[in-house]
Amino acid sequence: MEKWLGASGLVLTLVLVWTVWDASRQEWERYQEAYYRLALQLAETGAHQEWARGLRREIKQIQLKGDGAVERCVTCHLAYDNPMFQDFPEPLRTHSSILESHPVERFGCVSCHGGEGRAVTTLEGHGEGEILAKPLLRGKYMQATCYHCHGVETLPAQATAAVVRGRQLVNRYFCLGCHKIDGEGGEEGPDLSTVGSHRSWQWLYAHTLRPQGVVAGSTMPVFALRRDEIQDISIYLMTLLETRDRLRYLPLLAKRVAEEMPSDKREVKPDPKELERRKRESGIEFEYDGKALFHGAGCVLCHAIGITGGEVGPTLTFIARKRDAENLERLLRDPEEILPGGKMPQLYLNDLQIQALVRYLSTRR
Ligand code: HEC
Ligand code: HEC
Ligand code: HEC
Ligand code: HEC
Ligand code: HEC
Repeated sequence: MEKWLGASGLVLTLVLVWTVWDASRQEWERYQEAYYRLALQLAETGAHQEWARGLRREIKQIQLKGDGAVERCVTCHLAYDNPMFQDFPEPLRTHSSILESHPVERFGCVSCHGGEGRAVTTLEGHGEGEILAKPLLRGKYMQATCYHCHGVETLPAQATAAVVRGRQLVNRYFCLGCHKIDGEGGEEGPDLSTVGSHRSWQWLYAHTLRPQGVVAGSTMPVFALRRDEIQDISIYLMTLLETRDRLRYLPLLAKRVAEEMPSDKREVKPDPKELERRKRESGIEFEYDGKALFHGAGCVLCHAIGITGGEVGPTLTFIARKRDAENLERLLRDPEEILPGGKMPQLYLNDLQIQALVRYLSTRR
């Protein structure tokens, strides 16, 4: 009997030690372990194998020349420059060919994607944790950073079309009657010359939709704007970044005219089933917490659940009584389909994010 107790005690201790060890491993360590293992498996030549064996588990960072900013996105996005990883799941997927004209040592990742360069967890790096810091730009919002360096002259028109339309709308609605941008305009509202560095794109959308829903007692008028118009104004406002002068000095502003967009050389379109298998086998499965994402993706700016949250959109406390999971999923994927003519923004959420939000909202009944 005693012997058995001793043995099971030992097993218990071992299990405990293993659990603690496993939990103490940082999230990024899992991605690095998976990458090194896969790189070794895929190595074709002795030189490749040697390279893969020499890889070290460590926080990796890019130190940008000029202003010394540090970015750690590559701690997890390790395969960005490795062509063997075209059909692997994120964060271990080869980047598209656009990095050939924007070498990472000079441009980093944040200049195009936004996000928090110093962080080493997914939620913090993407700025989508509990506190809305500097969230990744998604979908059309990335046009803001392209425009930041390229203006309209050096890219094909479709690459900055939303920015151009946003700027036209800002003129049409006489925003400069009350606001200054680059020294021009009125004084009734705050200067907007660097608003893109101080506000997230979700905040700008919410504020343009209903200023009083975001800033209590705001005297800014509500404009009768469509969903796509509010979006384009927000994209234009996101081009008003603090770093405009610094880029000229670095020099990172584009001068050459690009005749066309760099063709996406990622010919491999990964099979979704294959991706799932790879995720499971490599242990890089990532899951969002729907409640945290409700804050991080900006929903909470506009919607209340219980007593916390904004009042730009309807409260979602009992939303599951009204909408089933399938309807919620379609709504989050494409608000225009389920709420035609409405104001709920297109947030360009990906499948994992939508699944997590639907799981969370489905409990609200
Ligand atoms: C010059 C701008 C630019 C830079 C710099 C840049 N990216 Fe991208 N990235 C893009 C664009 C544009 C896309 C969308 C795919 C495409 O059309 O190339 C993209 C796609 C991605 C994706 C896949 C998501 C998708 O929509 O397919 C990931 C992940 C990513 N980038 C991460 C990074 C990381 C990490 C870095 C830094 C090592 C980085 N990017 C640097 C422009 C950039
Ligand atoms: C701790 C690891 C980690 C760090 C640090 C990190 N990422 Fe990611 N990234 C991930 C994971 C995991 C995914 C896949 C999650 C998903 O599919 O939503 C991802 C996905 C992405 C995507 C694709 C998003 C989409 O919707 O498809 C982009 C773009 C991206 N990351 C950019 C960045 C940038 C820019 C930084 C630095 C500011 C960064 N990441 C830092 C782990 C990380
Ligand atoms: C930090 C500044 C910066 C950002 C942000 C940026 N670019 Fe560029 N881009 C450049 C510079 C510099 C060049 C090189 C051309 C030159 O020197 O005039 C360039 C070149 C290009 C080219 C021409 C490539 C070639 O080889 O002909 C394309 C296309 C392009 N960029 C698209 C984009 C897109 C799309 C985005 C947004 C996702 C973007 N860029 C974001 C600075 C930037
Ligand atoms: C009648 C004057 C008036 C007009 C016209 C006006 N605004 Fe405002 N705006 C204000 C006032 C006052 C505030 C400060 C209160 C607030 O933040 O809502 C403000 C705040 C803002 C802010 C928040 C700035 C920050 O960082 O706190 C943004 C962004 C903004 N306005 C954008 C716009 C846009 C875009 C338009 C045109 C579609 C516009 N405004 C038209 C008066 C105006
Ligand atoms: C900028 C404000 C804003 C943001 C951010 C926002 N929404 Fe909405 N949402 C609205 C508005 C306004 C409506 C009302 C319908 C319409 O006008 O399209 C709405 C409608 C909805 C509805 C349907 C409500 C009902 O009573 O039928 C759901 C569900 C929803 N939003 C979920 C979300 C989720 C989840 C997020 C975050 C991923 C989010 N929303 C982010 C403004 C917003």
